[in-house]
Amino acid sequence: MDLFDKLKELRQNGLDEIKKASDEKKLNEVRVELVGKKSELTNILHSMKEVAPEQRREVGQKVNEIRDLFNSHLNAAKDEILAKVIAKKMEEERIDVTLPGRKGHLGSKHPINIILDDLENFFIGMGYKVVQGPEVETDHYVFEMMNLPKDHPARDMQATFYIDDENLLRSQTSGDQARVLEKHDFSKGPLKMVGPGKVYRRDDDDATHSHQFMQMEGLVIDKNITMSDLKGTLELIAKHVFGQDREIRLRPSYFPFTEPSVEMDVSCFKCNGKGCAICKYTGWIEVLGAGMVHPNVLENAGVDSNVYGGFAFGLGLDRFAILKYGVTDIRDFYTNDVRFLEQFRKEED
Ligand code: DAH
Repeated sequence: MDLFDKLKELRQNGLDEIKKASDEKKLNEVRVELVGKKSELTNILHSMKEVAPEQRREVGQKVNEIRDLFNSHLNAAKDEILAKVIAKKMEEERIDVTLPGRKGHLGSKHPINIILDDLENFFIGMGYKVVQGPEVETDHYVFEMMNLPKDHPARDMQATFYIDDENLLRSQTSGDQARVLEKHDFSKGPLKMVGPGKVYRRDDDDATHSHQFMQMEGLVIDKNITMSDLKGTLELIAKHVFGQDREIRLRPSYFPFTEPSVEMDVSCFKCNGKGCAICKYTGWIEVLGAGMVHPNVLENAGVDSNVYGGFAFGLGLDRFAILKYGVTDIRDFYTNDVRFLEQFRKEED
């Protein structure tokens, strides 16, 4: 075959191969084959002496021309392949910047904590301090100091988990009163405190009973505190928690650490006093116990009951939450099913 025909064929085959190369690796192989050191074109240049002298110039020119052509086609093919790779990547990693962000999964506050935090803030706003006593308490603070000596029949009111003769899981937060009374320096001002915390009782769990629940103790001691101070405070609590339209009613009751003792009812927030299932058709709902602090409680803690006196109250946070949120089973507070808890998520959470 004539050398020019061979070059023509080489040119055509080379261009076809460049066209066929579908990725960068293939294209590099084609580049080596067509314009590399061992390519056909380089071979022809190296064996120029075998070409007739009058043709050498033309052959040289043709070879260079073909090599330039290959190079420009190779470069164009490379650009094309790279553009395709980038386009594919862009397509795969396409981001829709107009999409809204994904919602993070946040937990929600436990309903009892919602009430607890709210009440703590409420009392702090009225100048109370918040104290916390131990859950594993002593008979001394929970009972003896609270005017419940060892053989006192009222101990039966609270089925207590005893650890040994002296230590127990506290059955009420009232022991916090004694702990604070013992330490308070009345020369620095009156004592106003709330003591929230868990308490335990030997109860069989059912929809309305739990062996653990939350109480909040309250205590105010100063000179000249009267029962109307207690009544005013209880009314504020009732309105704050159950709504400004609520009325309260105090019924005589008995607690060993208060004299006189009362139980507070609020007018039913469901039926406004007309009578419904929630208030058991009485129009009133019992919400807490309270009273004027018994002189023995003050004297036990070394406080002169002839000079100082005051009131105390104890409320059940579970009971508040049950009433406020219409919860029908107290166990829901402690089994922590997220489907239950999520109902208390605030919109802004
Ligand atoms: N400790 C009482 C209970 O667990 C509640 C209570 C009633 C607390 C009257 C008080 C009070 O401080 O004054 O049933």
